[in-house]
Amino acid sequence: MKLLFEKSVPGRGMDILPPLDVPDCPLEAGLAREKALRLPQMAEGDLCRHYRALEKRAHGVCDGFYPLGSCTMKYNPKIDEQMAALDGFTGVHPLQDAKDAQGCLEVYARAEASLKEITGMDAVTFQPAAGAHGEFLGLLLIKAYHHDRGDLARTKILVPDAAHGTNPASATMAGFEVVSVPSTANGRVDVEALRALAGADTAGLMLTNPNTLGIFDENILEITKVVHEAGGLCYYDGANLNAVMGIARPGDMGFDVVHLNLHKTFATPHGGGGPGSGAVGVKALLRDFLPDGQVVGEAGNYRFERPKKSVGRVKEFYGNFGVVVKALCYMLSLGAEGVPEAATGAVLNANYLMHALVEGGYEAAVPGICMHEFVLTLEKLKHETGVSALDVAKAMIDRGIHPPTMYFPLIVHEALMLEPTETESRETLDECAKAMLDILKEAHTAPETLHACPVTTPIGRPDEVKAARNPVLKYEF
Ligand SMILES: Cc1ncc(COP(=O)(O)O)c(C=O)c1O
Repeated sequence: MKLLFEKSVPGRGMDILPPLDVPDCPLEAGLAREKALRLPQMAEGDLCRHYRALEKRAHGVCDGFYPLGSCTMKYNPKIDEQMAALDGFTGVHPLQDAKDAQGCLEVYARAEASLKEITGMDAVTFQPAAGAHGEFLGLLLIKAYHHDRGDLARTKILVPDAAHGTNPASATMAGFEVVSVPSTANGRVDVEALRALAGADTAGLMLTNPNTLGIFDENILEITKVVHEAGGLCYYDGANLNAVMGIARPGDMGFDVVHLNLHKTFATPHGGGGPGSGAVGVKALLRDFLPDGQVVGEAGNYRFERPKKSVGRVKEFYGNFGVVVKALCYMLSLGAEGVPEAATGAVLNANYLMHALVEGGYEAAVPGICMHEFVLTLEKLKHETGVSALDVAKAMIDRGIHPPTMYFPLIVHEALMLEPTETESRETLDECAKAMLDILKEAHTAPETLHACPVTTPIGRPDEVKAARNPVLKYEF
């Protein structure tokens, strides 16, 4: 497909600026560009067609099944988008006096109250723009807490080896040393190894429960106790909350700080680089360290406040407000019964699909019941047929299904991680199971055809290493 620059025709386009009717005010010498900007010149209709053609090449949840694990690509009710698009929400300026934006502050206050209830925390900030951003803030809060008590020796963060990559990355960015905690063969934290690693230098533990293998760690109370007894704090990566929301609360599991991915669990699509919200909830012991801009007061008289020992801002203004509007709308429309029903639906769907695949010949990385997602290992298949997790994922594209997450978590060889979510019907799950079982059969009968997939897309198999190492990010005229 041609780029806009290649479609550009000199002189084509629309002058939509009205004639100048104010005094001309030239820029100071040296500030104006010497040559005209080389923008593509196109008619509006051609431009629309260009973007529409691009849009048609993409695959989203409105096109088909999207079982990307660790990402919660669920269908989100359109009403949430409509509410976030209301003029009163989109037209407000972040510097508007709080007394004139009471409705917006009330959105924050009500969303905070609901998320406190769901997580078992005492306060929530909406500043972070993504999950990893929330992790970074959570770790700054843990650091501020220890430093405030004059305990400067706590320099290490314990992170299970099944963790999402952002966990060790955030801990490193926050200035901590990362200590990896091994998992047991059945995908749980090795509690004895944790006990041996926790000590006077432990600032905290970062944990996802259910973890990236889709396993709920039943030893969670023991795990958080071990860390607390060593003087550390416990951080809950809530990116997998979709499995337990309204059923089990991180606060009750012994966690002191949690981030939620509102853009996975609460009605904003994940991915695509759009705005997200990694809301962070804390127990009372961390409340004073929260960023500037906490909403306090009561209906009709809300105001922003800077907590006493605030770590400062991690983002300008108050975070991605529209995402919070969608989250509040989602929680209100589902209600106290609907939120846990969504979680149980997600777990049921994941188990249904996993069961169909395992019965048909795929191998689960951790056998047994899973939570909202599950991981397959194709190590044996690769050994027997040469067909890899990558081949299977690419073959799924030809069958109209977005590939699952591949090669993650790192502790599973030839991993495929599937998260069907609660919004998928039984028919869709059956179609996915059939497609994947057909691929499995083909792996044994005609493996070479799978090495060539996908064959139905404009681009087959790009050189992913080259694309990452030598990205071409600008057009050469
Ligand atoms: C378990 C887990 N933790 C953290 C994150 C990071 O969230 P974000 O992509 O919003 O930074 C993700 C992302 O999918 C995740 O799956």
